Amino acid sequence: MPWLKVSSSLAAIGGGVVFARRIAVVGSGYVGLTTGACLASLGHRVICADVDPEKVERLSAGQVSILEPGLSELVAEGLAAGRLEFVLGASKAVLDAEVVFMCVPTPMGVGGAADLMAVESVISEVRDLLPVGCVVVNKSTVPVGTAERVHKLLNRPDIAVVSNPEFLREGSAVHDFLNPDRIVVGSSAQDAAERVAALYARLGAPTVLTDAPSAELVKYAANCFLAMKLSYVNAIAELSERLGANVADVTEGIGYDRRIGQAFLQPGPGWGGSCLPKDTHALIQAADAVEFDFMLLRATIDTNTRQRQRIVTKIREACGGSLAGVRLGLLGLTFKAGTDDLRDSPALAVAELLREEGAELTAYDPGVAGAVPGTTDTVRVVGDAYEVARGAAGLVLLTEWPEFRTLDWARVASLLEGRIVVDTRNHLDPDVLRRAGLGWRGVGMQPVD
Ligand code: UDX
Repeated sequence: MPWLKVSSSLAAIGGGVVFARRIAVVGSGYVGLTTGACLASLGHRVICADVDPEKVERLSAGQVSILEPGLSELVAEGLAAGRLEFVLGASKAVLDAEVVFMCVPTPMGVGGAADLMAVESVISEVRDLLPVGCVVVNKSTVPVGTAERVHKLLNRPDIAVVSNPEFLREGSAVHDFLNPDRIVVGSSAQDAAERVAALYARLGAPTVLTDAPSAELVKYAANCFLAMKLSYVNAIAELSERLGANVADVTEGIGYDRRIGQAFLQPGPGWGGSCLPKDTHALIQAADAVEFDFMLLRATIDTNTRQRQRIVTKIREACGGSLAGVRLGLLGLTFKAGTDDLRDSPALAVAELLREEGAELTAYDPGVAGAVPGTTDTVRVVGDAYEVARGAAGLVLLTEWPEFRTLDWARVASLLEGRIVVDTRNHLDPDVLRRAGLGWRGVGMQPVD
């Protein structure tokens, strides 16, 4: 490793002096908008670019369509202070920039590898427009080796490329950006890396300064580790059921070990969303490309696929062994609570499997308004949790929205034909349901009737 510096706080980098920088952010989606608005709130002058003229118009008027707590307030604050601006096209944003953040989409491409088309097209668009000595930063999740590839594409010896992955969770992106567990910055140009790290000086977070391939791998390794932890806890949940143990006590017991930690030990219908599925497949693909059979990660993905089927088996058993023509109510469709995101949602995957077995599905999700494109023949979406229960043989909770805990369960029981609630998130209180005359089936826990 040419050089590696882990400083307890950023004051040690760049002498602790915080300079307001002129920053361009290319791509105003979930990562770009959060990055731009938060960097502006740290005092930097930020120009965010996007290719969608309507989006640029809406954002310039302070209209934020992403469901993220605190984001629209930060955008409004940045616009009012003149520290945040939105323009159409990367060319306009980079002309005066000291640092350019690449926050364009890198979706899953052929074979699971990340698709870098958007990154490459922006680089060729701005290559000759970038001010001398400007730093280009990859913030999007990109395969190991992308910083070097971008450097070659730029073919500008005066321009350094830095990898600076984000670790934002949907539903808490602003909080995660402004309260990072760590900042990771990697480049073959140490000075450029320190300049990027200094942008976050006010956050006082631990900083890992390393080379680009290591920083790029941190992102994948972190997300794949989280996925592995979840697949492990879902496997322990299955074992708990077979051994007559209680997974909530088991995870509490192991979670006190600081080497394990309590976080990310909640069993459920499997992990999903726009990141973990994409990043696990991309890392498998990257490993295959260098002839490394990442068995552990394959098992992590296979365990997750199996978990969705296991949930369907649990529901079928709770409904007497067959789902053909059975009416079920689903509580939750998004991949987790606090977001309106349905991408690779475990809830939708389970609904698909239930539908394949002939079940008739009605669903309610606080984050979803109206029919879900592409699933209308799978599930009927209604606007009320009680409507979901009407005439159903059972209820299946798939997303841990807080409001489901405070439902009037006696009223639910009066609407249901059957009396079973399958709680795939162990989110509800079985005693409350029992008092309402309902049976409870959790994950990794013994049934309560
Ligand atoms: C994830 C990473 O957490 C984040 O650091 C990275 O930047 C992007 O990917 P996100 O996609 O928002 O963030 O989802 P996350 O909160 O990590 O949840 C992922 C999946 O795991 C969801 O389906 C969630 O329901 C599930 N999950 C999470 C569990 O089943 N149990 C848990 O204890 C935690």
